[in-house]
Amino acid sequence: MHESILVYRRRRYLWAALGLAALSLLAYALHRTPEPPNGGTWLGYTLGTIGALLIVWLTVFGIRKRRYHSAAGKVEGWLSAHVYLGTALLVVASLHAGFQFGWNVHTLAYGLMCATIFSGFYGVYAYLHYPRLVSRNRGNLTLEQMLDNVATIDNQCLRIAKNAPDDIREVVTSAVNRTQVGGNTFQQLSGRDRSRVVLPSGDGSHRLRRNPDQERAIEWLAERLSRTSDGEVSATINELERLLASKKMMLKKVRADVRMQARLQFWLYLHIPLAVTLIAALLVHIVAVFLYW
Ligand code: HEM
Ligand code: HEM
Repeated sequence: MHESILVYRRRRYLWAALGLAALSLLAYALHRTPEPPNGGTWLGYTLGTIGALLIVWLTVFGIRKRRYHSAAGKVEGWLSAHVYLGTALLVVASLHAGFQFGWNVHTLAYGLMCATIFSGFYGVYAYLHYPRLVSRNRGNLTLEQMLDNVATIDNQCLRIAKNAPDDIREVVTSAVNRTQVGGNTFQQLSGRDRSRVVLPSGDGSHRLRRNPDQERAIEWLAERLSRTSDGEVSATINELERLLASKKMMLKKVRADVRMQARLQFWLYLHIPLAVTLIAALLVHIVAVFLYW
């Protein structure tokens, strides 16, 4: 999905949505009733019915569009209509209710509708914003290739550290083993680096430290370098520092990729259940008004 869904066929669905909203507002303004406007007048029933039909249509087509995947044009048109007419619901449903909100199942349906729509806004923002950033961040690599690069660097580090003094080997091995990428949904969304490293402290004990961007390990190696006069050890440390620096760059790309992919997807895990719950609340609303009103 890209900008085309917003401008699809000269924004025909934007005009349709604006037309629907304008007609509803006009009818509402001209509507004369003895009581304050509400869902129970003829206009209230009309707008309520239009709103309910729109909600059913938005949901059904949402599910059906999965079958259209081969015909990209159709998906674009559907999505364009979905986005604009879905937004017009805010006007239609508010006028239907005559802005009479309270702590009841009717307002619950309204609240769920708003939540569905606002999660949709985020979805459109994400679809327009992230794909470009994802491909800029990836360059010509895939996520698998980036992870392969990290694994290759890790192997080089371990190979070099194998013949280094014990403390260096232990630090490098723990930095490799405790590097973390991904995690649960929240961790992916935040993109925080939860890598750790075990470092020797002055008293001979060892401490587990946070190692975001491999920086603690790099700092420790730099400090270790300042303490050595052995040329061979210095050369090993320099090489390890260089490798960790390139691992840091690659990991940053990996984390950015995972974070953006998660942001592209997570909102649908709100949008769809909200839409389904909305339909349930709407049914209760309609049954309730016919039974008790
Ligand atoms: C076939 C569709 C619908 C019918 C027949 C219908 C019917 C009604 C009726 C008769 C009322 C007046 C109830 C009263 O004043 O106590 C009402 C109020 C209301 N309706 Fe609907 N409605 C429909 C669709 C919707 C939709 C789609 C929404 C929003 C998601 C919605 C949200 C509300 C709200 C928030 C109120 C105000 C409740 C209050 O006064 O506290 N309705 N509806
Ligand atoms: C009450 C109104 C709405 C309902 C009931 C609804 C429902 C749905 C459903 C059921 C899907 C299908 C998801 C799937 O199977 O992949 C969907 C997709 C989508 N909705 Fe909505 N929606 C509503 C309003 C909106 C609004 C106002 C926007 C944006 C302004 C929006 C943006 C989207 C987008 C971008 C998708 C496509 C997701 C994809 O294909 O990956 N929706 N919606």
